Amino acid sequence: MPGIVVVGAQWGDEGKGKVVDLLTQQADIVARFQGGNNAGHTVMFEDKTFVVHLIPSGVFWENKIAVLGNGVVVDPAALLDEVAQLRKAGVRVEDNLKVSDAANVVMPYHKAFDQFREALRGPGKIGTTGRGIGPAYEDKMARRGVRFSDFNPRMEKPFRVRLEQILEEKNFLLRNHFRSEEKPFVLDEVYERFRSLYARVEPYLCDTPALLNDALDAGKTVLFEGAQGTGLDVDHGTYPYVTSSSTTAGGACTGCGIGPTHITKVIGIAKAYTTRVGEGPFPTELAGTAIGEFLQKRGQEIGATTGRVRRCGWFDAVLVRESVRLNGMTAMAVMKLDVLDSLETLKIAVGYKDEEGNTYDRIPHWMGSYPDRLTPVYEEMPGWNTTIRGISRYEDLPANTRAYLERISELCGVPLMLVSTGPRREETIMLEGMS
Ligand code: IMP
Repeated sequence: MPGIVVVGAQWGDEGKGKVVDLLTQQADIVARFQGGNNAGHTVMFEDKTFVVHLIPSGVFWENKIAVLGNGVVVDPAALLDEVAQLRKAGVRVEDNLKVSDAANVVMPYHKAFDQFREALRGPGKIGTTGRGIGPAYEDKMARRGVRFSDFNPRMEKPFRVRLEQILEEKNFLLRNHFRSEEKPFVLDEVYERFRSLYARVEPYLCDTPALLNDALDAGKTVLFEGAQGTGLDVDHGTYPYVTSSSTTAGGACTGCGIGPTHITKVIGIAKAYTTRVGEGPFPTELAGTAIGEFLQKRGQEIGATTGRVRRCGWFDAVLVRESVRLNGMTAMAVMKLDVLDSLETLKIAVGYKDEEGNTYDRIPHWMGSYPDRLTPVYEEMPGWNTTIRGISRYEDLPANTRAYLERISELCGVPLMLVSTGPRREETIMLEGMS
């Protein structure tokens, strides 16, 4: 009963889409367990590049089931748009897509709250994607969330009563707290609009915990696809500069309704350097430097969801070592290694220090509150000064490239299972199979 979890080891955008796409060959089901359309997974399919925000990248494979688990927050209009776009491009999205009827729905007021809250935070803003993800999770936890099953016509009467209370509170806050001048949300309009969206999503809805548990019990392989990264986890990330869900491996259990005993492997994905979108601490950031700009351009580091330029910096072994622990990572994939091809010298953060000279080998929990207090302690390694683009056998890599990878693996305390040397499926070095 192999349950394999794939998580981001940094602050998201590590290249999970490519790894999940590759590993899907050996899986029966690919399931997302958290986040929403704040994510953006880039996948190459038949020589075309696709960015999927909600639907698991497993949908690109024939005979695989793609699942959106109960822990995902779903904007139904965004989901239907994505289905339409994929279909137009010739990707089959029919009964191979299953959406949890217990998943919380991202409502229009969530987007409004996300944008107003960010504006009120001023310079302390988080830099959210503005998709309403945080407010949707807030409501879920506060037990005033809306789930797909609520729109079932048989639930109309009690649900309308609950929705009316919810809208009354939202309208009050929008008008009196956020000083919104927009028209208030009207019960009938909101209900009817979402009832019709529900009708279009209904063919995909099912009891996904039952589906996944049955599959695991029958010996099928399920790949649990994480979104964002460990540094953005609501408990373990650089709080408050985080997303609002559990991006770490434990989230796969709650977000899909499966027990931890089903998880047999946890694969962490890290870029060969570090990037971050939005605000928050980033000790190895190379802002305003030629190397930072080089990484951004060569790595095409532009947010897949918001189009924002990603902040870039050196590989941070403190962050990734912490991810290895928090996820119980069994193996790691290193992505975009070829981006470093022409650099003379490479740096890896092996620790941090503060202004008083104290050193840290782990991320202190206050780092998010004092973003600029810590500076990295670096170790330097020589670059390889040649192109490794497309190399698919480990022994064909230059000695300096192998030394860099081996040092990362040693510092982070995890074996490597895959190295990516380009965006295409075949531009990959597989070091270990999935079984
Ligand atoms: P939210 O998830 O929209 O609330 O944004 C919270 C933080 O997470 C912001 O810093 C976002 O830039 C970041 N974030 C959310 N989704 C992603 C992602 O898929 N990749 C990278 N960063 C993300």
